[in-house]
Amino acid sequence: MLSQKALLLGASRRPELRRLVTGTPATCRVVDRFVAGETLDDALAVVRRLTGEGIAVTLDHLGEGVTDRAEAVRSRDAYLALLDGLAPLDLGPAAEVSVKLSAFGQALPGGGTDLALELVRPVAEAASAIGTTVTLDMEESHTIDSTLTVLAALRRDHPGTGAVLQAALHRTLDDAAALAVPGSRVRLVKGAYDEPPSVAYQGRHEVDAAYARCLGVLVRGPGYPMVGTHDPRLLAVAQRLATLVGRTPDSWEVQLLYGIRTAEQRRLAAAGCTVRAYVPYGVDWYGYFMRRLAERPANLRFFLRSLATT
Ligand code: FDA
Repeated sequence: MLSQKALLLGASRRPELRRLVTGTPATCRVVDRFVAGETLDDALAVVRRLTGEGIAVTLDHLGEGVTDRAEAVRSRDAYLALLDGLAPLDLGPAAEVSVKLSAFGQALPGGGTDLALELVRPVAEAASAIGTTVTLDMEESHTIDSTLTVLAALRRDHPGTGAVLQAALHRTLDDAAALAVPGSRVRLVKGAYDEPPSVAYQGRHEVDAAYARCLGVLVRGPGYPMVGTHDPRLLAVAQRLATLVGRTPDSWEVQLLYGIRTAEQRRLAAAGCTVRAYVPYGVDWYGYFMRRLAERPANLRFFLRSLATT
């Protein structure tokens, strides 16, 4: 039988189910917890607030799995508008952007990787022009080689382009070693997708142990590790390791999702850590929202209770 997590992750890939959860006040309340708003102005208001509190941001214009070139071009244009909106704030690297290549046409047949590279390149150029960077989010495991190909091409002109590695995958320790080179920005996460046992660890403890191993490689290496987790034990491991190898706060950072463990985000920033919140915005929140429900049974219970009381 499929687990609740697998069911929710399966539903996250079926946009036609979106109408089942859309449009109720309960949905709006719960979505608002994880998403900064639907418009660029909503996102910029959150950027001003968080950076004012000493928390850096990486902005995600929501969207994924586009099915034609026109949609992919619209994703590029949304990011160019976002970078235009960030320019006058003059935040430099304190406000960067995260992109999902599946929103840039990566999955389109016959040259999706080339199309994604063609469309993401101007975004990397616009980011460099205002002194900031792009990080390529990582999606399902079958997209990793394509994403790493785009990463390598972008890094030739924009060496600050960031990558994401998912500790749950068997291949990740090798990928971490390959990416642990000077200047390399790598966000390590546990992994948000439903992956089979042939490619991924299935148990929570196995994933946590794999995360700690990859963390060791990245923090001891010469790159710039971005520790993407809310897990207090792994955050403590990262802090201990960073101290052990003599990393200064400007040589690594902690990243958490907007709306999750916000008090901890402020506490870490006040304690002198570099903290960055991942801030999603836009109308296409369905896939992102369903993954957040899948991560934590309490979120689903809260959501269902809200629906019942609407
Ligand atoms: P874990 O799931 O064990 O949670 C630890 C604790 O954090 C929980 O006990 C709870 O307190 C809190 N928590 C975690 N998730 C929560 C939620 N949804 N709601 C409320 N509380 C929650 N994945 C991916 O595959 N590709 C990517 O590109 C990214 N990018 C990314 C960026 C950043 C900045 C973060 C923090 C995460 C991602 N992820 C991701 C998601 C990641 O893979 C993972 O699914 C989530 O971070 C949840 O795992 P944790 O490491 O937080 O641990």
